Amino acid sequence: MGRLDSKIAIVTGAARGMGAAIAKRFIEEGATVALTDVLPEVEATAAALGPRATAFRHDVADEARWQEIVAAMVGKHGRLDVLVNNAGILMFKDLLSTSAADLRRILEVNVVGTFNGMRAVAPQMMKQCKGSIINNSSADGLSGANALTAYVGSKFAVRGMTKVAALELGSHGIRVNSVHPGGINTPMANPMGAPAAQFDMAFKQFAAQRAGRPEEAADCFVFLASDESSYCMGSELAVDGGLTAGHFYYGLPGSPPGVSPPRWAPPEAKK
Ligand SMILES: NC(=O)c1ccc[n+]([C@@H]2O[C@H](COP(=O)([O-])OP(=O)(O)OC[C@H]3O[C@@H](n4cnc5c(N)ncnc54)[C@H](O)[C@@H]3O)[C@@H](O)[C@H]2O)c1
Repeated sequence: MGRLDSKIAIVTGAARGMGAAIAKRFIEEGATVALTDVLPEVEATAAALGPRATAFRHDVADEARWQEIVAAMVGKHGRLDVLVNNAGILMFKDLLSTSAADLRRILEVNVVGTFNGMRAVAPQMMKQCKGSIINNSSADGLSGANALTAYVGSKFAVRGMTKVAALELGSHGIRVNSVHPGGINTPMANPMGAPAAQFDMAFKQFAAQRAGRPEEAADCFVFLASDESSYCMGSELAVDGGLTAGHFYYGLPGSPPGVSPPRWAPPEAKK
């Protein structure tokens, strides 16, 4: 028996990366899944997952298209149990280089897209008195990071909207939670496709000392989609290898043995 047997789900941004891994894990656990994405590759990703996967071309900022997808899934399956608002975009620019147009572009996908998704599925879930909405925020929705003004702002907004939705929809049997990944080896985080061992080097100062695999993040979404998480409402699940827990001070007690020193050095060591 699968943990998501007979559940009907929508996963946005599912052509590749974490979204594709989430869709795959959902199907392995017995769900029927609509994979949506702006990329045409979503068709091939869904086709590879078999008959319980359907692809939809979809820009999450497009409210009307949301209505079509929800209507198609409810029309075919009679219900809708899970929404994963996963689609997202990233931009590396410091505060002074970020234009208002840059900020609006990020907010349009990461925030308005998530907002549209919650609003599109909630009426059907309210009719059922049951549903799970999982918003993919980020470790950058829990703490700040340089070069990410627009992205961090958008992911804090996703985290905040999740709390409000959890309050407003909770009494209708709808659970709304946020996931906070960090350092997951996907095309977004590793666009040049660096080998895993090389990509891992960027994470040596954190507890896991390596990047995460999309499948490791996807398992958290399975939990929140399943009835195992029936008492989780407005919660924040970090899947970041300890990135937001803190970092090692190398050389002090408790840091791991045999790790390379950090790339920076205090001023006196540079002399
Ligand atoms: N990879 C990480 O380490 C990491 C860390 C924290 C949070 N996240 C978040 O996880 C989610 C998935 O990221 P990923 O790493 O798999 O990235 P990715 O770029 O590999 O995948 C994102 C997918 O979203 C799709 N997408 C982008 N804009 C869209 C739109 N307007 N409408 C529909 N689909 C759209 C893309 O085409 C792509 O298929 C994102 O929300 C991202 O911000 C990722």
